[in-house]
Amino acid sequence: MSGSGSASQPGNSRTLSRVVTMEMFPFNQKVALITGAAQGIGRGIAETFAEAGASVALFDVNGEGAREVAGHISGPGKALAIRGDVAREDDVRAACEQVFRHFGSLDIVVNNAGIETGGNAVNMASSDWDRLMAVNLRGAFLFAKYSIPLMRGKGGAIVNISSVHAFVSYPDDAAYDASKAGLIGLTRALALDHGKDGVRVNAICPGYIETPLHHKWLDALPNPEETMKEVLKFHPAGRIGTPRDVGQAALFLASDAASFITGTYLVVDGGMTAGGH
Ligand SMILES: NC(=O)c1ccc[n+]([C@@H]2O[C@H](COP(=O)([O-])OP(=O)(O)OC[C@H]3O[C@@H](n4cnc5c(N)ncnc54)[C@H](O)[C@@H]3O)[C@@H](O)[C@H]2O)c1
Repeated sequence: MSGSGSASQPGNSRTLSRVVTMEMFPFNQKVALITGAAQGIGRGIAETFAEAGASVALFDVNGEGAREVAGHISGPGKALAIRGDVAREDDVRAACEQVFRHFGSLDIVVNNAGIETGGNAVNMASSDWDRLMAVNLRGAFLFAKYSIPLMRGKGGAIVNISSVHAFVSYPDDAAYDASKAGLIGLTRALALDHGKDGVRVNAICPGYIETPLHHKWLDALPNPEETMKEVLKFHPAGRIGTPRDVGQAALFLASDAASFITGTYLVVDGGMTAGGH
């Protein structure tokens, strides 16, 4: 591997990861649109794809955040920030068209944007339920609706970011749990309907990942430090995940190395659910 000598020096692990990523999954000429890319997991996914050689479109309601991330993205491809709401059909249609015009293709969509509003069926406002479903589920439907026609002919890949909440429910998270389970169903349906177009569709189910959303949840608890100690105990990996852990999984599912994988999901949780948590 050329350049691996200097890349393996201490402090150069990011360079090494970039060299390895580019060699394992060459994404030159590929264009990936990632939703919710202004921070957290979406940002990690966008950076991972860019380092693998892809051009990336960063779609987020936080347009300024998306622009800032695009400005920091390094890699052989180009980065484009788009402000929009995944729940708004006009925004999604316009974004798909803009990316196609700008880069000449749209090969990969990662439906990552998501929100978590707690509550059970009795105490949750129906307007909160509707908004959560619109972002977490309708958004993925809309991006499939407008990206798949652009992928037809040469194929493509969609990766939906679900959650371990698709299989394991936690108290006071009814809408979130339902939306993430729904995303697995949508993943299967899209894979079935659009395999003939050469479009593969898979989901990732992350566990605890260190992001602003995770910190928001943690900070709302009475004893965040103690909670984190408990959380670490049920992770055989000995740590919680990083946005890059999810980025690498998404890269694999979107790559040709996964050409026979569609309609399924990959759990990325450091072994947490293996122990029943
Ligand atoms: N962090 C975790 O532990 C974890 C675990 C499992 C699954 N997930 C899922 O991963 C995804 C990303 O989570 P995160 O922790 O990075 O969240 P985050 O809150 O840190 O970031 C979410 C991003 O999505 C954007 N966004 C929100 N609503 C949007 C909308 N309507 N349209 C466009 N962009 C919008 C936000 O502006 C933000 O940049 C979510 O779908 C979440 O459910 C997270």
